[in-house]
Amino acid sequence: MSKKGLSFIGSLVTVAMFGLMLTGCGSTPSASDSKEIKIGGNMEMTGGVANYGKATKNGIELAFKEANAAGGVLGKQLKLIVADNKSEPSEATNAITKLITQDKVSVVLGPVASSNVLATLQVGQDNKVPVVTATGTNTKITVDDNGKVKPYAFRSCFIDPFQGTVMANFASKSLNAKTAVIYIDNSSDYSKGLAEAFEAQFVKNGGTIVGKEAFLQKDQDFKSTLTKIKVMNADTIFIPAYYEEVGKIAKQARELGISIPLIGTDGWDDPKVVEVAGAAALNNTFFSSHYSSQDTDPRIVKFVAAYKKEYGEEPNALAALGYDGALMVIDAIKRANSTEPSKIRDALEQTKDLQVVTGIITLDASHNPIKSGVVIEMKDGKQLFKEKINP
Ligand code: PHE
Repeated sequence: MSKKGLSFIGSLVTVAMFGLMLTGCGSTPSASDSKEIKIGGNMEMTGGVANYGKATKNGIELAFKEANAAGGVLGKQLKLIVADNKSEPSEATNAITKLITQDKVSVVLGPVASSNVLATLQVGQDNKVPVVTATGTNTKITVDDNGKVKPYAFRSCFIDPFQGTVMANFASKSLNAKTAVIYIDNSSDYSKGLAEAFEAQFVKNGGTIVGKEAFLQKDQDFKSTLTKIKVMNADTIFIPAYYEEVGKIAKQARELGISIPLIGTDGWDDPKVVEVAGAAALNNTFFSSHYSSQDTDPRIVKFVAAYKKEYGEEPNALAALGYDGALMVIDAIKRANSTEPSKIRDALEQTKDLQVVTGIITLDASHNPIKSGVVIEMKDGKQLFKEKINP
């Protein structure tokens, strides 16, 4: 083609681009012109674990509110656009697609539950928009089956091998357990990953797993399996699961006369467990979590007071994690000095020494922070802060 022809095409392209820019300004302003920074919240607002989504969203919104009151980020106001993933992986995929293609968010926070997070990562990666889960603890979220780090996947919480190990050590050392039964939720990647981590450490401690049983989310009747478990005569039952099922399992176990300690993980942290199981059934139960609102660390005291003032209730681990995930995103946007998703991604990867409520975040090469955890005991329907465990 002649030079003239080429430059003619060039002018056409310029005109077309100019036209696009004009329409862009008229209707929806481009990301950098906007007075707002749009951040997606892919949250479990309804469905099986809706309480998780609501608490996490409250935490995120408090952090955004504080940042906005202090003048915003890069001179813009943060705006959380929530899409309900209905606590289902397929809906989580739809939610992230909508947030990215329709709402044009710069980064997505959430989902909460690991299986739902896993269902969103390909969409984030294909569109080059970073996904940050504040709560999803399954290892596969940031690293694929071949050990390759997923470039657009990040988290601001510890991972399951840590909490599985913490609870195995708690069983061996604090409960003096020699035998354990593992009772998992077969519909959840979270539960399966935790079972592996717990077993590895418990066996390493000299313990024996005397039985492995499974249930599915939304199951109502656990009694036939629990009857089987009862005759195994173990020292403890490890139940890495979510609040609806945990509440029912604890209640039905005690009704069957199973009085041994029941132990679990972060999924236990919801008032619904007490509501469903009843306070008495939960005595002699223990679970790992990310923080305790009873901790006297000044950052925690300050956060708990601010959260109570805003929402009139005690913040659980999810509220604290949501707040911290939001702080990690804010920090990355500031350092990126941009609302461009790919620049935010680069900044996220460099997250270092960031002080948050639940600890200090420095991301390792696998996009995971190394953070401390806590063990909580349930006593007469109340949570007791038992111990803090450093990694
Ligand atoms: N860690 C859980 C998961 O990955 C989510 C969760 C975090 C639930 C903290 C409760 C508290 O699925």
